[in-house]
Amino acid sequence: MDEAKQDISVLLTEKRVFTPKPEFVEQTNVKKWMDKFGIKDYDELLEKSKNLDWFWGEAAKELVEWYKPYDKVLDWNPPWVKWFPGAQYNIVHDALDKHVKTAKKDKIAYIFEGEPGDIKKWTYGELYTEVNKLANALKSFGIKKGDRVGIYLPMLVELPIAMLACAKIGAVHSVVFSGFSSTALSDRLIDCEAKVVITCDHFYRRGKKVALKKQADEAVTKAPTVKNVIVYKRTGDDVAWTEGRDHWWHEITKEQSAECETEVLDANDLLYILYTSGTTGKPKGILHSHGGYAVGTSLTLKWVFDLKDDDIWWCAADIGWVTGHSYIVYAPLILGTTSIIYEGAPAFPEAERWWSMIEKHKVSVLYTSPTAIRAHMRFGEEHTKKANLSSLRILGSVGEPINPEAWMWYHKHIGKENGPIMDTWWQTETGHFCISPLPITPLKPGSATKPFPGITAAVYNEQGEAVTNAGGNLVMLTPWPGMLRGLYKDEQRYKDVYWSRFKDTYLAGDVTRKDENGYFWIQGRSDDVLNVAGHRIGNSEVESALVSHPNVAEAAVIGKPHELKGESLAAFVVLNQGVEPSEELRKELRNHVGEEIGKIARPDEIGFVNDVPKTRSGKIMRRVIRAKAIGKEVGDTSTLANPEAVEEIGNAK
Ligand code: WT7
Repeated sequence: MDEAKQDISVLLTEKRVFTPKPEFVEQTNVKKWMDKFGIKDYDELLEKSKNLDWFWGEAAKELVEWYKPYDKVLDWNPPWVKWFPGAQYNIVHDALDKHVKTAKKDKIAYIFEGEPGDIKKWTYGELYTEVNKLANALKSFGIKKGDRVGIYLPMLVELPIAMLACAKIGAVHSVVFSGFSSTALSDRLIDCEAKVVITCDHFYRRGKKVALKKQADEAVTKAPTVKNVIVYKRTGDDVAWTEGRDHWWHEITKEQSAECETEVLDANDLLYILYTSGTTGKPKGILHSHGGYAVGTSLTLKWVFDLKDDDIWWCAADIGWVTGHSYIVYAPLILGTTSIIYEGAPAFPEAERWWSMIEKHKVSVLYTSPTAIRAHMRFGEEHTKKANLSSLRILGSVGEPINPEAWMWYHKHIGKENGPIMDTWWQTETGHFCISPLPITPLKPGSATKPFPGITAAVYNEQGEAVTNAGGNLVMLTPWPGMLRGLYKDEQRYKDVYWSRFKDTYLAGDVTRKDENGYFWIQGRSDDVLNVAGHRIGNSEVESALVSHPNVAEAAVIGKPHELKGESLAAFVVLNQGVEPSEELRKELRNHVGEEIGKIARPDEIGFVNDVPKTRSGKIMRRVIRAKAIGKEVGDTSTLANPEAVEEIGNAK
């Protein structure tokens, strides 16, 4: 049988459904909006929102203020889109300028907690002033509209300040995750031809000081376009200094005016470039612009996490990823929310660090990743009982499929079975949630449920036909406001990667199943699909089955070439603390997968390891694991969070 023509077998099924309580539904933002337009239920909302001009036009009316109104909502010339063409706009107007004219000026925008425990609260007014001063300083270096600025900062409030200062004057920021190496930084600075880099001296991580300026220095020497480096003083430890090029943040902003005029831009002008942490190839410079992105991020946050004026929002991602760009910086500020920014590592110095912070700051909505949840699961439950988590009313998950076991643990031990879990599917490319429950959606653990209103997604087989209850390609049939505007200086790659598989249709690159109720089950990236004896199986399905065993904390599954079966399955399993590897357990796990999915999915080999290689964003690096396991060249491991785990694979017991 032709490999490409087969559909992907989906063998794992999850039957539980959690229906939201009517009194909870009644008070939600989305329900209020539905009432306003006389929409009676979720299905009708999804139906009505197919009128994109109407739906996104109404959203824009509610959330943003244009300097000059748009000519039309949408201009779609596949694969190029313009949202709100004709409008004059700057996202910083909605994120800051409009708030300081109201009582919001004195509302807390960010509660910062450093890893050593230092706390600082920033009002909208204070943020506004600091952004203006830095924006003026950037101008003094000759930075103007369209220029690129590299930002290499950890989780400090100065990171959003730097981003907003760029946006304010129409410069394009490119944030590079502070956990990346100097090589990763220089590659990106060179690619986007950054003129300035903003960084800090050191920062705290797992009780140590990370010498960020030193790494920035190494990168900047290789990036000839960078003429100035702005250094925020976080720890005060000594740093090397290049006179004329390096400038202390506090010195260059000291004399600057506290006012800075916001540059009036076209709604479709560029806001930022963010390089994706792809598992293969050169990073792609994803482009996002001001207007559509502002509307898409703020509406999705307002509806999915139902943010109200008194909520304390904690998106526990790093701002170096799109999650932080959209949901720590732009959307929460547009909504005038109070957000948490935490500098340090989770579970540091104790397992309950996050939970104590939730109690201390009265966090009401928490958004994190399945990896973080599983890491906490590994410690058992006791640590979750050391803090009062009753302020939490909604939880969220993002980044990878959340296996039902982790979903249930999160629901029970963190959410205390009170309030929904929002499993939000999206990508750096999409800018905001695309498939996600609303607080009115009945939930099925492990499913990201349905497309957000105003978004049309489908699952296509290899022939481009929509399929139900079979694995296929996740696609988007219409553009959405936060859609990427291309890849920086690489038009051809943009067309090839996303638009060449099906005509005028966006290919997300994720294997997905849509069930008989229209619920989407994201299985994982399509380059991670296994083919075993003529059946294509998502690696994550097998991993999920393994993790559902009470002794297993984490699992990575890869395919090894196999003469008879095409591929044989090899699993690398991290056991819960206190569980000893044994031959018996190996058998038990194989049988467990057999029971959960079917005999075909039983791993041929199971190796016990202490950790599996992951990217900094928590994705299991199957390419690396596979190369190591089959004795091939592993290649670049500079984007790994834990390069030492590669050796573990070689020495698996
Ligand atoms: C890829 C995008 C979006 C912010 C973080 C990652 C996977 C993301 C989910 C989810 C299953 C998910 C997909 C997607 N992914 N969210 N809720 N369920 N898979 O951004 O680095 O651009 O990665 O992450 O594979 O394509 P990214």
